[in-house]
Amino acid sequence: MAVFRKPGDRVGPYKISKRLGAGGNGIAYRATDAKDEFVVLKLLTDSNLAQANFEIELSMSVLAACASAYRGLEEHFVPVLALLRDNDDFFLVMPYMIGGSIADALAKRGKLDYEVVRMAIRPPMLACHVMHKVGVVHRDVKPANLLLRDHPARSALADFGISAPANTPLRAPGYSTGYSCPEQMFNHPASPAQDVFSFAATIYELATGIRPFAAATEDEEDQLVGDYTVTHTPLNTLAPNIPHSVARAVDAALSKNPLARPSLRELYQSFN
Ligand SMILES: Nc1ncnc2c1ncn2[C@@H]1O[C@H](COP(=O)(O)OP(=O)(O)O)[C@@H](O)[C@H]1O
Ligand SMILES: [Mg+2]
Repeated sequence: MAVFRKPGDRVGPYKISKRLGAGGNGIAYRATDAKDEFVVLKLLTDSNLAQANFEIELSMSVLAACASAYRGLEEHFVPVLALLRDNDDFFLVMPYMIGGSIADALAKRGKLDYEVVRMAIRPPMLACHVMHKVGVVHRDVKPANLLLRDHPARSALADFGISAPANTPLRAPGYSTGYSCPEQMFNHPASPAQDVFSFAATIYELATGIRPFAAATEDEEDQLVGDYTVTHTPLNTLAPNIPHSVARAVDAALSKNPLARPSLRELYQSFN
């Protein structure tokens, strides 16, 4: 069992200053380094070292891709910088994103203006495109994993905790209720179309304040997502101000059938 940390605790060269939150695979803390700069330390609660190593390798491959074919896109990622051992616990080290997550912004405001959604969603989509090009599916696109710097347009894609190589048998199942598509819930091999669905569910929620298959409980929401006969309310019905081209692409991206979804590029281009 991982030992929870509190403000003032030291972990290697870092000093914990605040608990930021907890997710499926760990607890995120803000900490300061030797130069008093902020970093994020994620305590791995299920000691999944294979995945932690995969996350570091993935960070290196996407940054390498950004150094050659995808110049300028590195700032759209929150990379994993290192894996740290402290007694029996392991921590992932990441840059600290001062603006917090888009989920925080959504919780504060209920829903976001279309222009803010447009600005904040495009950089993570570009980041995800680079991931697909290196053969990996993110698998956990959701507002809590879209992190902000000082401006919505300087957002970045975070958290490779359940990312997996495309089209190979999964090492471990994993999905997020309300954002993952049916075939991901049912443990099909990872595919880029799964991230397309998750981006669409995220855009839908940011623009309307409601997830496309929202229900009273997580179990009921899982059932609505997993039922191939259930469709969502079209985006323009709830948000008439969204340009039709965007609403059409988001609605298609929420298809239960992955073959009916647009590509990530098409979803991205609908915002042009
Ligand atoms: N690099 C980071 N910079 C700033 N805040 C972060 C960072 N990573 C995570 N957080 C915050 O910590 C919370 C918990 O993160 P995480 O453990 O990944 O769980 P989840 O993504 O399910 O919320 C996030 O919702 C976010 O608000
Ligand atoms: Mg996360």
